[in-house]
Amino acid sequence: HHDVPREVWTSEEGSMARETAITRWPKIVQNMVDDLEESLGQLDTPDQIEEGRRIQATLRIIKSEILQNKPLHPLIPDGRSDIQSYNAQLESFGNITWHNCPWLFAECYLYRCVQTLFARSQFWRNHDIFARQKLSAFVASHAAVEELCERYVSLTGVLTEAVDEESQRLIFYEMTEIALWGNATDLSLLSALSLDQIHSLQGKQAIRDGQARIVSNDMPEAWEYLKSHRGRRIDIVLDNAGFELFTDLVYALYLLDSRLASAVKLHVKSFPWFVSDVVPHDMDVLLSTLTDTALFPCATHPSVRALTERLRESCKAGLVAIAEHPFWTMGVDFQEMPTVAPELHQDLLGSALVIFKGDLNYRKLVRDANWPHTLPFKEAIGPLCGGKGSEGTKILALRTNKADVCVGLTKDTLERVNKEAPGKTWVRNGKYAVISFSDGVGV
Ligand code: F6P
Ligand code: MG
Repeated sequence: HHDVPREVWTSEEGSMARETAITRWPKIVQNMVDDLEESLGQLDTPDQIEEGRRIQATLRIIKSEILQNKPLHPLIPDGRSDIQSYNAQLESFGNITWHNCPWLFAECYLYRCVQTLFARSQFWRNHDIFARQKLSAFVASHAAVEELCERYVSLTGVLTEAVDEESQRLIFYEMTEIALWGNATDLSLLSALSLDQIHSLQGKQAIRDGQARIVSNDMPEAWEYLKSHRGRRIDIVLDNAGFELFTDLVYALYLLDSRLASAVKLHVKSFPWFVSDVVPHDMDVLLSTLTDTALFPCATHPSVRALTERLRESCKAGLVAIAEHPFWTMGVDFQEMPTVAPELHQDLLGSALVIFKGDLNYRKLVRDANWPHTLPFKEAIGPLCGGKGSEGTKILALRTNKADVCVGLTKDTLERVNKEAPGKTWVRNGKYAVISFSDGVGV
């Protein structure tokens, strides 16, 4: 039995939480102000402009409240029931301010707060303040998209034929790693990472180099499990739009083509979230960008066209489907799913495997708590791992490390990475990763 450590707070000196609260949040909100400025400049409808200006003014207030370490205040109802949960949670923390609050909760609260401004408006209800950034980053990743299309098309024959088990395993490893490193291109880290650095994480060579940086790797266990539970539904809790979504769609196609899955359900966010997360509309944007010759340099490339066509068909046939649930944009961690979203929890229990993409989803799985890095993953996910007669969710987390929390390392690996990337950089800089698996049978 372990004492459960508390979640990371923005008051902790030297934590990434603190750095985020002090420098990154104000920047992210300033980017929203600037993006809105650009949208406003393209309008000539006075009422809409007027309303947009008011939203912009409120965003500036939010930014200055963060900079001045003001308290978080209850959210104004906008018609969605999750507001009550946010406000109840806020109350439970007592008086919290931006520089002294639970990191995970406050960051979710920030995006939810911004959403109330749009949701309560007349003209801006469906505005995606991050759409511009998401699109331009995706267009900039065209070389990696082309490379991945080539690779996948070259594998197609191999996938549908009966190949030996060793080859099947290797293809599973490669495809899983592509989906994993797709998460390295998170736009909310862009303020720290140059585009060149991001590109260096993409592509074949980067993936090969990457294997040494997977500090906890349950891929062998995941493979053993999956090959004996073939042909059922697999879920992916998506993270970012653009290149990462593209790798996730290729992964979904692979799971179908290799008959590991009979269908793939993709879980998206309901409103603009953590800058780059997938909202329903991003799916259409991606598919149309891939064939837009004016926008996307490799749109006419044969393997890009072939793969895009296959993706469209799979969506149309319902083999790849999108699902939305308010739980994914709440301020609670995933260990609360059985009580907060019991029907979603039940639904996911029926899935052969639930793949959680990215850093934020990982933090929510392990409660963003300051666990020892050597704690086994299954212990960190608490009730989600099952046990004592109750079945747990089958979980595969694919996460590049971009926050303070990380579990599942052996003592040896921990020593190695502490030497290789001192000062905790290996948990934060997005260059290291974990692949963590839980088979749902408890510890
Ligand atoms: O610290 C960086 C951060 O903004 C975190 O708040 C969040 O956990 C993460 O980035 C988002 O990354 P991802 O898109 O991988 O979830
Ligand atoms: Mg994200």
